[in-house]
Amino acid sequence: MADFYITTAISYVNGSPHIGHAYELILTDVIARFHRLMGDRVYFLTGTDEHGQKVQQSARARGIPAQQIADEISAQFKAMGPRLGATNDDFIRTTEERHKAVVRELLQRLFDKGDIYLGEYRGFYSTRQEQFLQEKDRNPDGSWPELYGEVSEIIEPNYFFRLKAYQPWLVEFLAKNEDFVFPKFRQKQVVEFLKEPLNDLCISRPRERLEWGIPLPFDPGYVTYVWFDALVNYYSAVAAKPGVWPAALHVIGKDILVPPHAVYWPIMLHAAGIELPRGILAHGWWLRGGSKMSKSAGNVQDPLALADEFSADSLRYFLIREMNVGQDGDFSRELFLARYNSDLANDLGNLVNRVLNMTGRFAGGAVPAAGVGGDAEAELRALWGATAGEYVALFGRHQFHTGLERLFAFVKSINGYVERRAPWKLGKSAEPADKALLETSLATMAESLRLASVALRPVMPAASERIAGVLGYAPAGRWTDELVWGGALAGARVAPSLVLFPRPQPAAGKAP
Ligand code: MSP
Repeated sequence: MADFYITTAISYVNGSPHIGHAYELILTDVIARFHRLMGDRVYFLTGTDEHGQKVQQSARARGIPAQQIADEISAQFKAMGPRLGATNDDFIRTTEERHKAVVRELLQRLFDKGDIYLGEYRGFYSTRQEQFLQEKDRNPDGSWPELYGEVSEIIEPNYFFRLKAYQPWLVEFLAKNEDFVFPKFRQKQVVEFLKEPLNDLCISRPRERLEWGIPLPFDPGYVTYVWFDALVNYYSAVAAKPGVWPAALHVIGKDILVPPHAVYWPIMLHAAGIELPRGILAHGWWLRGGSKMSKSAGNVQDPLALADEFSADSLRYFLIREMNVGQDGDFSRELFLARYNSDLANDLGNLVNRVLNMTGRFAGGAVPAAGVGGDAEAELRALWGATAGEYVALFGRHQFHTGLERLFAFVKSINGYVERRAPWKLGKSAEPADKALLETSLATMAESLRLASVALRPVMPAASERIAGVLGYAPAGRWTDELVWGGALAGARVAPSLVLFPRPQPAAGKAP
């Protein structure tokens, strides 16, 4: 059973994972963790898309079986999850029998209904993109854009799926479900796309040209073609698990929204009589040097190298804080270091140490109970009241970067509060009023740090847990209750120190 079934796109196995893939996995994980914390039963799927021309070609070039390449690269994607803190429940591979069986069953169902038919395909075919091209895809001078690689004309009998027949249904569905695609401007693009008549979708390739696919159950001379295989993963992975389908959210990149996820997939499901997913989130791209990070552009960054150097949580924070979901974002080591140093090492890391250190020095390492306090305490509490509600609401609307911006503004305010109260001065005073204020200020610092760290849990689960550990805080109850200002820490014994975000060591040849 699940209330919230969430998926990532499944990655091609033609290259190792890069920051773009890591981002999608982490973004999906943050949403999954957030929903779990909000009380949903979450089911989270990711995986790899392993068939197709490119894998077949590189296998031939290397003189090894396609399955071997798929095994190697799929293992890299699978291993990335735990190293980035991803909490996926399952990892599907399109070469698994559980997937292939469902694809065959679906194809047969649609064939029996008459929604799949044999026709003749004639067209210009791009091997690199594994797709037939249309006249509108040409450059103004008649040549084919570079992204298609070598293009050749092909005429062959093939199987087609009746997309066109379902176009009016899809138009109506999108009109009724205005929030099907997030962000909204992307739904508008889908609606625009549907103003032109759809062509039926060619779903097969003759086996002699493409062996590395799933044979059609009604004609073994053909294998099914990219999208009819790949999209089905979302359904095949949970077909045997009652109560999981339909997906609540498919998280994908903007490049595969129109037409695959927003046109083919809903129509395939509707034609097969299967319930539709509730939504699609299309994120933007990580760019490097102005272009999309990709293996073919040769500008990839290995996410695991960064996670190893700085911690998975720092990478998670950077990717989620820096990117406005749906827009593109720039990646560079400098941008990463700027966030790491200012937000994590300075603001949060220092705060942790101030709390631990001062609680040790002035209260024997046990968090005092808070007294009434004054304006400074009231202001910080009021700020938290506004921040917490907004943070949760922003996360619910996929505005994670703004949520984190608010949360770190609160962290800065805690540091400001510490400066204002200056416990090191209060600690020198023999006045009873100062002693009471000292205790209140230590309690306030510890409590506000606890709240910030609890709020960070979906994004930085490990750091959040370590902060709880050094504060002597044992999370319990509902997350939204944990986010309420209270006296949970009174009497808790804190650790002497914690270096959460060590300053990077300047290495030869690297900017510090
Ligand atoms: N195999 C297809 C998806 C099939 S889903 C049924 C595919 N694979 S991919 O490996 O090219 O991309 C996997 C996901 O990573 C896609 O959602 C894609 O948008 C995303 N990214 C790949 N490069 C990216 C960036 N540079 N930035 C952000 N995400 C990008 O497409």
